[in-house]
Amino acid sequence: MSNPSLIDRFGRHVDYIRISVTDRCDFRCVYCMAEEMSFVPRPQVLSLEEIELTAQAFVALGVKKIRLTGGEPLVRRGIVSLCQRLSALEGLDELVMTTNGSQLPKLAGALSGAGVKRLNISLDSLRADRFTALTRTGRLDQVVAGIDAACAAGFKRIKLNAVIMKGRNDDEVLDLVEFARERNLDISFIEEMPLGVIREHDREESYCSSEEVRDLIQQRYALLDSTLLTAGPSRYYQMADSASRIGFISPHSHNFCHACNRVRLTAEGRLLLCLGNEHSFDLRALLRAPGFAPAQLEPAIRKAMDLKPEKHEFDLSGEPQILRFMNMTGG
Ligand code: GTP
Ligand code: 5AD
Ligand code: SF4
Repeated sequence: MSNPSLIDRFGRHVDYIRISVTDRCDFRCVYCMAEEMSFVPRPQVLSLEEIELTAQAFVALGVKKIRLTGGEPLVRRGIVSLCQRLSALEGLDELVMTTNGSQLPKLAGALSGAGVKRLNISLDSLRADRFTALTRTGRLDQVVAGIDAACAAGFKRIKLNAVIMKGRNDDEVLDLVEFARERNLDISFIEEMPLGVIREHDREESYCSSEEVRDLIQQRYALLDSTLLTAGPSRYYQMADSASRIGFISPHSHNFCHACNRVRLTAEGRLLLCLGNEHSFDLRALLRAPGFAPAQLEPAIRKAMDLKPEKHEFDLSGEPQILRFMNMTGG
């Protein structure tokens, strides 16, 4: 049998895929989307069967973790049955999901039952008016109800994600930490990334570094280095009196590309080798080619690893180099 591992040109071992199941979303977060968005026409989006075939091939190649993202994954019809099928894949350790939480009041129980182990839920503000301003269409009470439904549904761990922007929500860092502590949730603070052209704010002006956020938290709590080492972009800290962990995702101030273990599948079936570059391989073209056979997927994916670039090229000044919005890839 051939070696099942996916290794890139820099010796990094890819064992994690993030799959965007839709580019659509019921929110329009100001850092993620422009106010007027056009979405991919449905026939161009991978079908659930195509997603499953691709996931199967990745797991056969040694992938241990699948994260479903969007857009908002829970607005995709059939998502629960997709979760059921993916979580049953032999060799997969974990199926997890990143969501905005709006659909969790009705879906949290079903997702847990379908084998989703952990959830990451976005929460940028605890003030109803601000929450609606930042998401443009979202309602805080619905998302808080979603978080509570997820807590009741028995997920192994739940993490909140907060993108912190100067003058918008940087005064809520401690309130967000309290919210997480009250529920024993983890929370990650994220530096905004320049994906897609937005006009709503100037990303350079609203940049708030993880260091500033950490200083704010340390005014109230000592942050202890966590022994938790993930191959992910988060650096985690613990507090002496709580199970909640505090993470920082700092693409600008702390580059983590050397340890990158992941690739992404966009909603339209482009295999993206890096969030901050356009290097990609068109898996949809392969899946839809006349005479396609599933056995063609593994060699194509293995070969695509050669396209993985060494690091991202994020730059907050000037126009973004990456024109694709975050909702295509789910972060
Ligand atoms: P894990 O799956 O546990 O690593 O969680 P995560 O925190 O990476 O996932 P989540 O979907 O919650 O994403 C949180 C933020 O991390 C988003 O803003 C993502 O864009 C960012 N992120 C995730 N992976 C990468 C990466 O490889 N590079 C960069 N620059 N950012 C990433
Ligand atoms: N920069 C940083 N994080 C972003 N997210 C969406 N767009 C951006 C961006 N431009 C975050 C969301 C969500 C996660 C998947 O990505 O808040 O938590
Ligand atoms: Fe939707 Fe998530 Fe983008 Fe917000 S960040 S618009 S919730 S995809």
